[in-house]
This record gives sequence, structure tokens and C-alpha cells, in this order.
Amino acid sequence: MLRLLVCVSGGGTNLQAILDAIDAGKITDARVEAVISNNAGAFALERARKKGIEACCISPKQYESREAFNRALTEKALEISPDLIVLAGFLVAVPEEMIRAFENRIINIHPSLIPSFCGVGYYGLRVHEAALARGVKVTGATVHFVDCGMDTGPILLQKAVEVRPEDTPESLQRRVMEEAEWQILPRAIDLIANGRVSIEEGKAKIQ
Ligand code: GAR
Repeated sequence: MLRLLVCVSGGGTNLQAILDAIDAGKITDARVEAVISNNAGAFALERARKKGIEACCISPKQYESREAFNRALTEKALEISPDLIVLAGFLVAVPEEMIRAFENRIINIHPSLIPSFCGVGYYGLRVHEAALARGVKVTGATVHFVDCGMDTGPILLQKAVEVRPEDTPESLQRRVMEEAEWQILPRAIDLIANGRVSIEEGKAKIQ
């Protein structure tokens, strides 16, 4: 049984997709052990608590320095000791010490087809604003392993979504979530839980 720690910042629709997929048997051999948010008001925390899952907030605002926050977050993760950390809309940089402690055991969902519209400054709605500003006809979502760069780790799954002429950033964000994110994030977890993913020469392989 793969024990998951899910890190969130906001609404938590991706967390909900994971919880629903577990209930529906679409993810087997995994359970959500705990949820951490950097934002005390995140609705995602409610979603976790409703399911009886340990949910806590570790916010940079509670600490006098970034280093102290990084230490607290890493220590909490080590205490929970999950098999896999899932960044499901976690909009703060993961501390390097945490990435090293969980090498190849952290995945992230990003709302574009990496390497487009990713890296520093590309998160949430901004990604879709940038896609529309560039006039791309296809966008999508990516699940990748987290390394010490920003959105640079091995890509595990991607799904394309068509951009419509009438799209706003909000409508595109919604469709990318529905058609891509909520599909590929649970799928990625199921693949990992069932031992079907390996990382070879910096690339994720699915057996
Ligand atoms: C999702 O669209 C996720 O892909 C994005 O934040 C949103 C969180 O929504 N993540 C990033 O932009 C990471 N760079 P949710 O809280 O409803 O799951």
C-alpha cells in the first residue's frame, strides 16, 4: 500500500480527484495518509478533514525566515514518512533538502504541456493567460517527477487539450483540469502504486 502525502495550496480539486479515484477503485494499492497546505484557508484542507485524513497548515508566515519554513516543512514530511509526495496545486517552491530526502518520490501536476509555459512565474491561472497570449491551439497538463529545478524533472504523463477561439483563462483552466489534470494525476499515482514506473537515464519509463 503506497502511502501518499498530498501538498496543496488552494481549492484542492486535484486532491478530490485523487480521493474519488481511490474510492472508485481507479487507483489501487494507495491511500492518502496526510495533506499539508501552505495556506490555512485552503478549501483542500476541508476536503481532507471530511475524509478523516490528517490535514495541517505549514505556512511561511508562521516562520521568521524561509529557511525555518523549509526546515519545518521537510521535518513534517519526514515525520509522515510517505512513499510518495504528490504536489497537487502546491504553489510554493519545495525546499531542496526535501527534494533530496525524497529523491524520485515527489510528483507534480502542471497545467500545461511542459516544456511550454512552465518554470518560474508560471502557476495557476497565469499559465493559461500565457497560453492564450501566445495563441497556442493545443495546451494540456503534465505530471512529472520533481527535481531541484522548476518543472524540469522527468515527465511521466501528459494529456493535450484543445484551445477554443472563445476561451478565457478561466474557461481554459477549467477544461484543462476536467479533461487532463483530473485524469492523469490519479493515473500517475496508480501506475506508481502498482510498480509500473521506473526512472532510467533521467527519463520516466512506464512498463
Ligand atoms: C491546478 O490547475 C494545478 O495544475 C496548478 O494549480 C491548480 C490547483 O488547483 N498547479 C500549478 O500551477 C503548479 N505550477 P486545485 O487546488 O483545484 O487542485
